[in-house]
Amino acid sequence: MSGLILALDVYDREGALEIAESTADYLWAVKVNWPLIIGSGLKIITELKQVTGLPIIADLKLADIPNTNRLIARKVFEAGADYIIAHGFVGRDSVKAVMGLGETIIVVEMSHPGAKEFIQPGADRLIEMANELEPFGVIAPATRPERVRYIRSKLKPGIKVITPGIGTQGGKVGEAIKAGSDYIIVGRSIYENENPREAARRLSEEVKAWS
Ligand code: XMP
Repeated sequence: MSGLILALDVYDREGALEIAESTADYLWAVKVNWPLIIGSGLKIITELKQVTGLPIIADLKLADIPNTNRLIARKVFEAGADYIIAHGFVGRDSVKAVMGLGETIIVVEMSHPGAKEFIQPGADRLIEMANELEPFGVIAPATRPERVRYIRSKLKPGIKVITPGIGTQGGKVGEAIKAGSDYIIVGRSIYENENPREAARRLSEEVKAWS
């Protein structure tokens, strides 16, 4: 199965709730990141859940010592988040601290050009760690379908591959799904569109067509 995830990277509460409500019919989940949490407070997670009825992914890319990761993750899960994204490069103990509290998605590679500097060279070890810890999923870059294919080929079958980088960053839905992506993350190509509902509808049709 494949699904579309909205990356709701806006600051303002009303705008976020309006976009989420208008696009919810076409989404599998809504992803919130620091911009929205800083702009609208942690309660936005609870509100988005109420308004959309969808799973909420907190993309905090946690990268701290186990105790701090745990303190942050506890509050975020309490607010209603269903999944948290954590960095893997900080090591097993930090990731396990998050996984002990709820469903976790581990970053094993990133979509921006700078990812080639440090993250990509360590990807094999991050994939190995994911196979050992068995999180809900891993993040892989839709901007580099060959890397999505590689990561999928190395991952245990049950672990989902979730790919940002579609649209504004240049990635394509079809290429990401053909390469093994289970869930497609799209932000600006939806929320910056003058008709976010229509943009989400088109993308979800594309996701369905390639699944
Ligand atoms: P756009 O506007 O580019 O937003 O569609 C993409 C969303 O996904 C996040 N993002 C990433 N998260 N690894 C991650 O863990 C990545 O490689 C990556 N690339 C983009 C980004 O923060 C935004 O919320």
